[in-house]
Amino acid sequence: MHSGQMPLASTEEVPVIQPQQRAWLEIDREAISHNTAQICRSLKPGCSLMAVVKADGYGHGAVTVAEAATAGGATGFGVATLAEGIELRQAGITAPVLVLGNLQQPEEFRCCLHWELNPTISSLRQGLIASNVALAGGKPLGGHLKLDTGMARLGIDWQEGAQLLEELSKLDGLRLLGIYSHLADADNPDGRITGEQQERFEAVLRRCKELELRPGIRHLANSAGTLADPSLHYDMVRVGLALYGHAPASHLNDAMALKPALSVKARVTLLRDVPAGVGISYGHQHITQRPSRLAVLGIGYADGVSRRLSGHMEVLAKGQRLPQVGAITMDQVVVDATDLPELAIGDAVTLLGRSGDEEIRPSAWSEICDTIPWEVLCSFKHRLPRLPVSTQH
Ligand SMILES: Cc1ncc(COP(=O)(O)O)c(C=O)c1O
Repeated sequence: MHSGQMPLASTEEVPVIQPQQRAWLEIDREAISHNTAQICRSLKPGCSLMAVVKADGYGHGAVTVAEAATAGGATGFGVATLAEGIELRQAGITAPVLVLGNLQQPEEFRCCLHWELNPTISSLRQGLIASNVALAGGKPLGGHLKLDTGMARLGIDWQEGAQLLEELSKLDGLRLLGIYSHLADADNPDGRITGEQQERFEAVLRRCKELELRPGIRHLANSAGTLADPSLHYDMVRVGLALYGHAPASHLNDAMALKPALSVKARVTLLRDVPAGVGISYGHQHITQRPSRLAVLGIGYADGVSRRLSGHMEVLAKGQRLPQVGAITMDQVVVDATDLPELAIGDAVTLLGRSGDEEIRPSAWSEICDTIPWEVLCSFKHRLPRLPVSTQH
């Protein structure tokens, strides 16, 4: 060996080290089961719960959520895309899965047939494709008819709903399992638009009855509709946000004791003491007003912590709130830890979640960013591992 050169260790000698994770999400499965069970208990008799697990279970991990929600009483799942449905099937989940997004191509319906996913049908064209694909495949394809009762997104205009149902019910390959619509304004306490949508939904159901058509499972409510008004429950509710532990509107905060299932944590990677008058991060948006101890956290906007939170958010460390200061950068944020001298390098800090008696919820971020908690939850990137945690409830 030449002098000055490090000896190459044999594979056996390389220590197996677990690199310390800089930032991560903690997913509390029991919270999801608890929330699901709570909601199920509040449903009208005979009403079942479809867990909406699209967008990777609102960022929590779709399979994790599906399993936890099943334990709490969910009997079906809503996804946005075929790939999301296939992920559930490949994980061994056999319960009904409704694809809420719009499918158009025959291959997409063939995929539904193969994986036993239920497409949303909003037109005769889709019904014909679904039926033909099913007849060619030698087994029926189950789907749900979607009505537009006032969202102007997916669905057949409600006034044409009963007629379409009649035409669809004549197709040999298609099995109509349900009829549904989506509420545009259920989180508004005023209830005007929801009332109008419900009236339209009911009008279609009445017309179906007159025509002696069987629409199957009737479903209308999202989280807000489910929590706000049992008359919106029908045969099934499609619940997303509330499963994850968040009320869909502030006036529904006390409707049910929900447990947030996701926490965001990051470690202190560096501590530094600086004098007063020091500019922090890009653009020096913050200047220290006193001699300060700064803690750098290994998390940034590339992990899903919006740059719009810069200088407005807080974090929790050892049960204490610390202000975040300066511009949030791609991989790191700086917090003012002057008032918490015991904070050490390597300590885990909570960006969302609970520490001691303090808690920061996604709504705190969505208010700052002028968005909604749904978007906050869906914004975390896969650079953050999702780690299961268990808490006592
Ligand atoms: C068709 C449909 N149903 C139900 C839901 C669940 O909504 P929430 O998360 O408000 O419960 C969604 C979510 O956007 C949806 O698109």
